[in-house]
Amino acid sequence: MAFYSDDLIEEVISQNDIVEVISEYVHLKKSGRNFMGLCPFHRERTPSFCVSMDKQIFKCFGCSQGGNVITFIMKIENLEFYDALEFLAERAHIDLSKYEIKTFNTKYNESKKDFKETLYKMYKDIAIYYHNNLMELLKEKSNHVKDYIIKRKFDMKTLKRFAIGYANGKIPLYDYLINLGYKKEDILKSDVVVQNEKGKIYDRYFSRLMFPILDVKDKIIAFGGRVLDNSLPKYINSPENDIYHKGKTLYAMNLARKEKLDSIIIVEGYMDAIALQKSGVTNAVASLGTALTENQARLIKKYTDNVIIGYDQDGAGQEATLRGLDILVAKNLNVKVLVLDKKDVKDPDEYINKYGVERFRNCVKNAISLVEFKISKLEKDLDVNNVDTKIKFLTGVADILAKIDNNIEREIYIEKVSNKYKIATGPILKEVERKIKSSMSKNDDLVIDTQMLNRKMRLVTNMKKRQEQYIIALLLSKDKEIIKEIFDKIKLEDIENKEVKKVYSFLIDLSKTNDLSKIDVITKIHDEELMKEITDIMYIDISQTDRKKLLTDVLKNKMKERLYLRRDEILKRTSENISKDEMEILQLELNQIIVELSKLK
Ligand code: GTP
Ligand code: MN
Repeated sequence: MAFYSDDLIEEVISQNDIVEVISEYVHLKKSGRNFMGLCPFHRERTPSFCVSMDKQIFKCFGCSQGGNVITFIMKIENLEFYDALEFLAERAHIDLSKYEIKTFNTKYNESKKDFKETLYKMYKDIAIYYHNNLMELLKEKSNHVKDYIIKRKFDMKTLKRFAIGYANGKIPLYDYLINLGYKKEDILKSDVVVQNEKGKIYDRYFSRLMFPILDVKDKIIAFGGRVLDNSLPKYINSPENDIYHKGKTLYAMNLARKEKLDSIIIVEGYMDAIALQKSGVTNAVASLGTALTENQARLIKKYTDNVIIGYDQDGAGQEATLRGLDILVAKNLNVKVLVLDKKDVKDPDEYINKYGVERFRNCVKNAISLVEFKISKLEKDLDVNNVDTKIKFLTGVADILAKIDNNIEREIYIEKVSNKYKIATGPILKEVERKIKSSMSKNDDLVIDTQMLNRKMRLVTNMKKRQEQYIIALLLSKDKEIIKEIFDKIKLEDIENKEVKKVYSFLIDLSKTNDLSKIDVITKIHDEELMKEITDIMYIDISQTDRKKLLTDVLKNKMKERLYLRRDEILKRTSENISKDEMEILQLELNQIIVELSKLK
């Protein structure tokens, strides 16, 4: 079921070199004919993610994900096939309108695009509705909403700039939207209302202060709603939908990006980002309580290389800081951690309100490095005045320092630690060196070597499966004669291994409508399991092999297998209580099999 023409798919693939595309997400190192890196799809410390420039495919030998450039974008950007195709077409400046798009596709895309456009427009109207509700309330002499707005020090300019609103107006939101001409089904899909079993439709948010969440193009994609008292949950946020993907958004990024950015400060909450922006700290964005994601790190990387994490000062905030650090560092960002010099406040919002923005800026200037943060966290967790724990602390510090690549930097930190914790530099240095040595010897065992990976792969894959994989490898070799011979001689039932069988069955079907010697088979695969198996097979290198001979061997082996199988069946049957006639026939067949087997040897 092709929506876009095969021409387009081919064009997109050829205009997006897989090594270039993946390099935008993964740090790749050349290794022989391949490129290796840390797999973005599972956690690992030694690279088993391999990109082949020749074959234009990737494969992780750790988690077995694999595919071509489209598969990669689908996975990493979390897109459907056709959206990934469009994404890559755009990247390569390919004019999609030039390609014939089959009718079904046009409909599919347009209805999806239309819905997104409707949703954007509706969210804007909803934000206006909430905002007007709030403005109405603020006109009154006094009410609890107005009290809250004053208490949290919102000014009119901020309320407007962030389009802050209040849920609940004089008319229900649903009626308001219907009046604006939105269709019931679209409103229901928008998540701002809920329908009960009886069909009655209610506002999803009520008695909450509403914060619209905007993407970097200034479009409203979701809402967060805060209660005005201590009831729970404190916030309700929109669920994910066609336009809102939590882990990909940073609150206030649309504002921050408008200025030239030397760095970005990431804070936890809406209120923190708003308070900072209001005070002129225009590079503040909020991750909104959830753990920082790789996508958010990537978004930041588009604008700057320098990040300051300014999470809450409580335990949860500090833990989140530690996790965030790792994600940001993995994206090669320079990360620092904000330390508020007053401990009687919980977060940047409270700090600014109490101590002012100048003092806050000073904290930003003094933000500490990753290493310093990890050491001070270790110190907080351990009591350094006690001898036992002091040793533990020293070992922990050595662990942290051993991970610094730069010798000079490491020296500086050793000096700092020595001064601060009154430990002589000698023992620290020794311990750090010991850690470095032991980690180096560990790494030596795990050299990135695709040859070795292939060997490893070959070991884990049993030989029988390997034989069957060769059949597929031969089918993918684009040799017309070989393809024909395989299809003639090997039936689906002949393939034993489940995964290979799935691939073979797929290729049999595909060959009914396509000439396998002409097409790029991988572009036809939309099934994840199938993709894993076929990319495994594509890494079996038969380019230096005599394909005719390989085919003969493989066919011979298959034939042998079949004969052995039949022989065992006969032997089993003849040991049973059977008639004389049957016995004779079976004996004859057995003799024949033995002759044939001897010929095959
Ligand atoms: P204030 O307490 O009003 O200062 O708000 P805050 O923005 O500082 O909130 P807090 O530090 O408690 O939490 C940080 C962020 O986590 C919030 O801005 C929300 O995005 C998110 N969050 C907090 N509580 C909840 C909750 O109960 N549910 C959900 N979904 N998110 C929450
Ligand atoms: Mn707060």
